[in-house]
Amino acid sequence: MSKHILITEPIVEEVIEKLREQYEVTVGERGRYNDEKNLVQDIPGYHGLLSMLSNPVTGKVIKAGTDLQVIANHAVGYNNIDLEAANRSGIQVANTPDVLTESTADFAMALLLATARKLCEAQEYLRDGRFEGWEPLGFLGRELSGSTMGILGMGRIGTAVARRARGFNMDILYKNRSRASRETEQELGARYVDSVVKLARSSDVLSLNCPLTDETHHIIDAEILQQMKPTSLIINTARGAVIDEAALAAALHEEEIAGAGLDVFEEEPEVHPDLLTAPNCVITPHIASATHQTRTDIGMLAADAIIGVLEGKTANEIPNLLAL
Ligand code: GLV
Repeated sequence: MSKHILITEPIVEEVIEKLREQYEVTVGERGRYNDEKNLVQDIPGYHGLLSMLSNPVTGKVIKAGTDLQVIANHAVGYNNIDLEAANRSGIQVANTPDVLTESTADFAMALLLATARKLCEAQEYLRDGRFEGWEPLGFLGRELSGSTMGILGMGRIGTAVARRARGFNMDILYKNRSRASRETEQELGARYVDSVVKLARSSDVLSLNCPLTDETHHIIDAEILQQMKPTSLIINTARGAVIDEAALAAALHEEEIAGAGLDVFEEEPEVHPDLLTAPNCVITPHIASATHQTRTDIGMLAADAIIGVLEGKTANEIPNLLAL
């Protein structure tokens, strides 16, 4: 009897086709499985789950998934999955690192440039018909060259952001759980600091590139924001809850910092109402990895992990299984 796979949302068609070659595949209606209740209700009978980062794969879902052998998250982040519960139930979990590193780092720079140069505000001004000719004092932004980029989380994406920032002639500071090798520091011209406070104080741009864990939840809070320079910018392509959103909105409104470029939010799809009205806040709907290439590669990696587990391959033959 063929195994059943649930792909919780429509994804790149080639990936769906690849899984259909061997399995019975159901593709969920967009958004249906952002609700835990629907997952709990539908998961029995599925052997593989290809989940999105927006799906709460909680202990309850895992308990209800009595036939489940593998969960492959269509994302590098896996904070939406209860790993302990999966481990207890003997379910393998995989994610999709590497393939989205470059697209996400590109997008962090897109947000940075848009924020530093007030791109969105300027476009709105022009579209509103308010442009009355070149102004010597209109939309003055900040230059990146010679300024300091502070990176919180120097993993794959943080490193790719650092390389780009070097190309813009920025100095690099970073804070990470563990210090990078001397060769990496040399290659990136990156200096390590041992606290978030030091990173916040010294950065002109703070780029968040760490995973969301208990340790990083609200790591950027009101106290840290107060340490930042009033001219500084924050860029978040990691997870919304790394920042205390209410504190960030207040800091922007009170001009404690000069701007923020945000692709992720604490309660997606909700955005804190005070961020929607904050000055110089560029906001996008969690699209940092949204390129055709990356989304195809993410889907294929997730599919390979499902196939690997269901075919009974050994752990080292299966891409990106998380060590539980
Ligand atoms: C995107 O946010 C991801 O974790 O892949």
